[in-house]
Amino acid sequence: MKGKRIFQKDGRLAEVRRAKAEGWYPYFRPIQGYRGSRVVIQGRELLMAGSNNYLGLSLDPRVREAAVRAVETYGTSCSGSRFMNGTLDLHEKLESRIAAFIGKEAALCFTTGYQTNLGGISALLGRGEHVVTDKYNHASIMDGIFLAQGMTRQVGVHRFSHGNLSDLEKKLETIPAGEPSLIVTDGVFSMEGDIADLPAIKALADHYGAGLYLDEAHAIGVLGPGGRGTTEHYGSADLADIVMCTFSKSFGSIGGFLAGDGEVIEYIKHVARPLIFSASMPPANLAAVLATLEIIEKEPERVHRLQAIARRMIEGFTAIGYDIGVAATPIVPLIIGDDEKTFLLWKALFDRGVYVNPVVSPAVPPNRALLRTSYMAIHTDEELDLILNIAEDEGRKLGII
Ligand SMILES: Cc1ncc(COP(=O)(O)O)c(C=O)c1O
Repeated sequence: MKGKRIFQKDGRLAEVRRAKAEGWYPYFRPIQGYRGSRVVIQGRELLMAGSNNYLGLSLDPRVREAAVRAVETYGTSCSGSRFMNGTLDLHEKLESRIAAFIGKEAALCFTTGYQTNLGGISALLGRGEHVVTDKYNHASIMDGIFLAQGMTRQVGVHRFSHGNLSDLEKKLETIPAGEPSLIVTDGVFSMEGDIADLPAIKALADHYGAGLYLDEAHAIGVLGPGGRGTTEHYGSADLADIVMCTFSKSFGSIGGFLAGDGEVIEYIKHVARPLIFSASMPPANLAAVLATLEIIEKEPERVHRLQAIARRMIEGFTAIGYDIGVAATPIVPLIIGDDEKTFLLWKALFDRGVYVNPVVSPAVPPNRALLRTSYMAIHTDEELDLILNIAEDEGRKLGII
């Protein structure tokens, strides 16, 4: 294998090898166990400040119990695509519950959030149609566009500067009148924790006759009095035509959904390749989402606690002197800029027992390296203060704050 040129990628891993040799390689670290807001890594307990399990529900005994019961009833896999033998009654039950929760006519579940964007976006974009997408949108959105292009649909792709409404409008103006277009935006941006100005984007969408597709991966369970996300935060389910979300974050499972008008969802169901050509969401994961959805609806205080934690950490890091950009959610980035300093601070926090995620280009623009910290409703005030104290200590030592 080594002699074959196709496999000669050695040069590209030089940085990874150096990081491993010097002991600051941060990725793919196996977690050996979860204990509430703590994780065990290399036999050591760390405080988790880097998870997307925003409501802490993947560990809730009611959710675990529901997953176990589903395995007992249906087994561990559906062994087929939704299109063929892979649809369970649980898929349809979840879809009608989700549609009601979000306030849309219909919903459709995919096996991962990534596949949801791949399927939804590639299904919606046809030849001669246009997509207008925020530059900070999640990679799965761009990959959905690539899939449409790869199917030679000849889609017009327009990327606007992050959150810049006048650039969005400029891009919309270039689209010839009468040619269909779709605006795509995250509700909460995954790396910087800022919230899209959805009412303004919706007004532009209406003015230019564009559809609006909203990725709520980091917004549902997080924003709005009932945890329904960015639309609820701004007061109306009608602010987006299509709502997308993953089940791997607040819902403590894996999978994803699209919600929207019945006819549009029915269309996507019959053309989305990642739905048709991949096995469906497994029983345990479906049951886990059904259980978390019930908890979110019955116990909104969890969402309120998460929102209070977000305010506390935003204020705390700002007071210490960190640049946190315009974070407004439980995702609080410590923006450092320089890759090396970012890895040094990551290692210092890791060694002191705090787990966060280092993020460098291409996941963020070059020279905008950051530590992505994120919080869960199950964090205690004492744990949050400990994180702030350690981050202050280590940030000062490294001259970052
Ligand atoms: C904004 C956004 N959309 C989609 C996804 C994909 O979801 P999943 O990881 O559940 O496949 C993610 C995951 O990080 C995300 O942050």
